[in-house]
Amino acid sequence: MKKRNLITCALPYANGPVHIGHLAGVYVPADIYVRYLRMRGRETLFVCGSDEHGVPITIAARKEGCSPQDIVDKYHNLIKQSFADFGITFDIYSRTTSATHHQYAADFFRKLYDEGKFIEKESEQFYDPEAKVFLADRYIVGTCPKCGNPDAYGDQCEKCGSTLSPEELIDPHSKVSGAEPVKKRTKHWYLPLDRYEPWLREWILDGHKEWKTNVYGQCKSWLDGGLQPRAVSRDLDWGVPVPVEGAEGKVLYVWFDAPIGYISNTIELLPDSWEQWWKSEDTRMVHFIGKDNIVFHCIVFPSMLKAYGDGFILPENVPANEFLNLEGDKISTSKNWAVWLHEYLQDFPGKQDTLRYVLTANAPETKDNDFTWKDFQTRHNSELVAIFGNFVNRAVVLTHKYFGGATPAPGELLDIDREALAQIPLLKKEIEENIENFKFREALRAAMNLARVGNKYISDTEPWAVAKTDPARTATILNTCIQITASLSVAFAPFLPFSVEKLNRILAVEPIAWDDFGKASLIPAGHVLNKAELLFSKIEDAEIEKQTKRLDDIKAARLA
Ligand code: 2FM
Ligand code: ZN
Repeated sequence: MKKRNLITCALPYANGPVHIGHLAGVYVPADIYVRYLRMRGRETLFVCGSDEHGVPITIAARKEGCSPQDIVDKYHNLIKQSFADFGITFDIYSRTTSATHHQYAADFFRKLYDEGKFIEKESEQFYDPEAKVFLADRYIVGTCPKCGNPDAYGDQCEKCGSTLSPEELIDPHSKVSGAEPVKKRTKHWYLPLDRYEPWLREWILDGHKEWKTNVYGQCKSWLDGGLQPRAVSRDLDWGVPVPVEGAEGKVLYVWFDAPIGYISNTIELLPDSWEQWWKSEDTRMVHFIGKDNIVFHCIVFPSMLKAYGDGFILPENVPANEFLNLEGDKISTSKNWAVWLHEYLQDFPGKQDTLRYVLTANAPETKDNDFTWKDFQTRHNSELVAIFGNFVNRAVVLTHKYFGGATPAPGELLDIDREALAQIPLLKKEIEENIENFKFREALRAAMNLARVGNKYISDTEPWAVAKTDPARTATILNTCIQITASLSVAFAPFLPFSVEKLNRILAVEPIAWDDFGKASLIPAGHVLNKAELLFSKIEDAEIEKQTKRLDDIKAARLA
């Protein structure tokens, strides 16, 4: 087993707040994984930050009448706060406008440039003569020649689904200024991905058959389609300036500088020891991303690292997720079709774990999935409240009622006690195997199954009835319940950190070590518990109706 784990999460664009799709696809699974690794005592570094360059940020700035820096400052802080609020435990959350990043990304480019790893090429590209900016196909709009939709993009018509090129649009105009685009010659640097193709085929197609089917499949289809050189620079006044002479007005393409952000953020955190994370065969690197980022993390960034050489390691796995939809429709920042994390917390203060739970239980691990408020309420009320919370509450309340809160010493165990306790190591193993294979839904299901074991055990053994006649047997039952409760505090720790903190307070224990999970007795007889508190409170229909009404209003406004 490798000594270190370097875990990265896709750097979110700082042009809007983060929503449930981000959390479900990338940040919650990565955080579960990292918390688990740390609990297992494995040396781990968890790196993320804001992706603050790219055309959309300049457009947002133009729209809001401020500078791109104002936009990224606003959203970087909001995003960083949302991640902290949801318990995402990055070791560093920095940003690509940092001085460290600008310097390192420029140096990275310069080394490849000096070593002749790029191709220099002139081409004609669409240009907005009023805004004086080159236009990506997405920023040219016009009428679809196939269906007449007046709002088709230069690369695609979202109404009829046709793939388009800007030349095909009727009455094309720039999304930035409205002007008609013209063609203009410009020079750029390209990374010749085709040269890396044989190596990529061997590394991925032969060497990483264990990658998730969706990831492996996308890589295979890119490679089978044949790779082309990719431009790594853009004509833009926002980004990392291309550090060579004659490149005025040009910056590094955002998808060139953003993954370098993983490295520069590590440098910012560990200026003297970052190389041991990035250039040691004893480091295992894993990128958590959404499916739209697969090509960049499996093909482009590895080719950049390979081109750079100097001992850089490559990812061992890229467990990309599919997308989460919201009430049947694609989540969309521009259409405001999302549940924003900062707004969620205003409406459901203290219920971070509910969202972490629901998004994991319903994670888009193998296919796109749908988030509905009804399912959110049901999972909270019938699983977190009725199974996990209910069991813990009964165990603790009864221990206070019959034994003054002191964990009673067990007597001789009956089969029913032994059978319940025997489930603990089995479920522990199931959790471990699933987390290690990036199957977080299954791992969470196993943790909840342990709560189900506890709930069934306490219902079947009825300590409240036994207590009337048999205090010794009651002691054994409640001891068993407290041991299961303590195991739940470990089982759920990677998933529900806020609730586990509360549970540990109730149990009056420090966080329990993963290695102790599964041992016969986690809480010694005589250990005094704190008073019971409800781990979860029910979510009422009115709270859900408020959310569905908000979405109905957004839909109605769109149709009006
Ligand atoms: O898709 C996105 O949101 C990109 N900002 C992800 C960048 S990941 C990395 F390479 F920085
Ligand atoms: Zn169309």
